Amino acid sequence: MLAERVAADEAGYTRPFVRDPGRALNIGLLGMGVVGTGLIQALHAKTALLQPRVGCPVRVKSVLVRDLDKPRGFQVARGLLTTRPEDVLNDPEVDIVVEVMGGEHPALEYILAAIEVGKHVVTANKEVVARHGREILARAHHHGVQVRFEASVAGGVPIVAPLLRDLAANEITSIRGIVNGTTNYILSRMAQQGLECGEALAEAQRLGYAEADPAKDVGGMDAACKLSILCALVFGVWTKDLEMHRQGINGLARRDLECARELGYAVKLMASAKKVGGVVYSGVYPAFVPEGSAIAQVDGVLNAVEVETDLAGPLLFTGQGAGPSPTASALIADIMDVALGTKLSTKAMRGALHGEAAKVGRMADLEAEHYLRLVVADRPQRLTEVRRRLSDHGVESSFAMFRELPQSDSKVEVVVMTRRAKLASVQQALSAMQKAGAVLEVGNVCRVEEAR
Ligand code: NAP
Ligand code: HSE
Repeated sequence: MLAERVAADEAGYTRPFVRDPGRALNIGLLGMGVVGTGLIQALHAKTALLQPRVGCPVRVKSVLVRDLDKPRGFQVARGLLTTRPEDVLNDPEVDIVVEVMGGEHPALEYILAAIEVGKHVVTANKEVVARHGREILARAHHHGVQVRFEASVAGGVPIVAPLLRDLAANEITSIRGIVNGTTNYILSRMAQQGLECGEALAEAQRLGYAEADPAKDVGGMDAACKLSILCALVFGVWTKDLEMHRQGINGLARRDLECARELGYAVKLMASAKKVGGVVYSGVYPAFVPEGSAIAQVDGVLNAVEVETDLAGPLLFTGQGAGPSPTASALIADIMDVALGTKLSTKAMRGALHGEAAKVGRMADLEAEHYLRLVVADRPQRLTEVRRRLSDHGVESSFAMFRELPQSDSKVEVVVMTRRAKLASVQQALSAMQKAGAVLEVGNVCRVEEAR
C-alpha cells in the first residue's frame, strides 16, 4: 500500500488536499497590486466555476500590502488587508500563500517562512525563482509542500507545467522565444504606429504589463530571469547570478526598426538557450527575426516560446504574456493543482533541484549572422572599404547598403549584413575600424535569428 502511494507521488498523481470537510480553501495573498488585484477579481468572477472543480469554496483570507489607504482596483473588506506579514504567514487557517509582491527581498524571506510552517506557495515572481529557485525547491521538498510558479514565465501561456509534465519524456535541445510582454508591446507599437519608446512604455504601464521598475523589462533583466527558470527546468542548469549574454531594447533606435523592415525582418527581444556539446548557451538580446517566421508574427503583449524536442518535434506555445487576467489564469491553475494534490513530475523537479551551475556558455559565443549600422566618412569606395576591413578581421558580409544622412554631407550611414561570425569577432573588427578612422560611429549591432 505504502509502495503504491510512493509510486503515485513520484509519478505526480493526485493526492487530495488535507483539510477539514466543509472548510474553504484559504489563500493568504502577499501583494495586491496589478497581479494581486487581478487574481482577487478573477477568483470572485469564477466562484461558481471553481467550487465544484476544487471541491470547496476558494477564498482570500488575508492580503499583505504596504499601504492600507491606497486606492485598489477592486473593493475588498478593509479587515482583509494587513501590513504585518505574520498575519498571513502565521495564520494556521491559511493553506496556500500566493506571493505577488515582486522583487527579491523580502519576497524570498516570506516564501521561505511560509514553507517553514508547512504552507504551499504559489508565486508569479520570476526574480525570486530565478535567483533562489534551487534553495526554495530544496526547502519545499524537505517540508513536503509544493512551490508552484507557472505565472512567473510568459504570463498566461502554459509553459512550466508542459515542460515538466507533458514533455517529460523528451530530450530538449533548444528553447527560445519572446518572454517579455512589455518590450514586445513597445517594439510592435514603435514598428507599426511609429511611437517613441517612452510613449509605448507608458501605454504598457497603463495596461499593467510592466514591472514596478520598468528598467527590468527594457534592460532585459525580466526576460533573463524567465530564461534562467526555463534553463533550470529544461537543462537542469541554474545560471549563477543570471550570468548570461543580456542586452535590452534600450540601445535600439527607430532607424534600426526601419532597416529591419526594409531588409525583411522584425525586431524582437529574444530569450534563447541551446545545448551544444554539453554546454548550455543562453542569452537575451534584440534580434532581427525573418518576417515569415512564426516568432515574427508575435506582436503586442503576446509571448511565444519555441521548444525543440526529440519525440514531440518542434512546439510553439503562444498567448498573452503579461497583464492581470492572463496572470490570474496561471496563478489559479497552480492554486487548483495544489488544492487537488496534483504534482508536477517530481523527477523533472529533482533535475532542476540538483542541476549544476556549471557548463554555462554565452549565446554570443555561438556564431550567427549580424546586422551592423555604422556611420562612415562620405568618400569613394566606402562600402567596399567597410567590407574589406571587416573581412580582414574574418567577418564576411553578404549585403551592404549606404544612405545619405539628412543633416550631413560629410558622413553616410552604412548597413551591413554579415555572414556567420562570433559577436566578439564583429566587435573586434568594429573597434579596429573605429581606431583606424574607417568607422566614425557604431549605430547598432544585432544578432540575426535563424528561421525554424
Ligand atoms: P505591483 O503592482 O507593484 O504590486 C506589488 C504589490 O505588493 C503591491 O500591492 C504592494 O503593496 C505589495 N508590496 C510590495 N512590496 C511589499 C512589501 N515589502 N511589504 C508589503 N507589501 C508589499 O506588482 P505586480 O505588477 O502586481 O507584479 C507582482 C509580481 O508578479 C512581480 O513579481 C511581477 O514580476 C510578477 N508578474 C507580473 C505580471 C504583470 O503582468 N504585471 C505578470 C506575471 C508576473 P502596495 O499596493 O500597498 O504598494
Ligand atoms: N513585466 C512582465 C512582462 C510581466 O512585461 O512580460 C509578465 O511577467
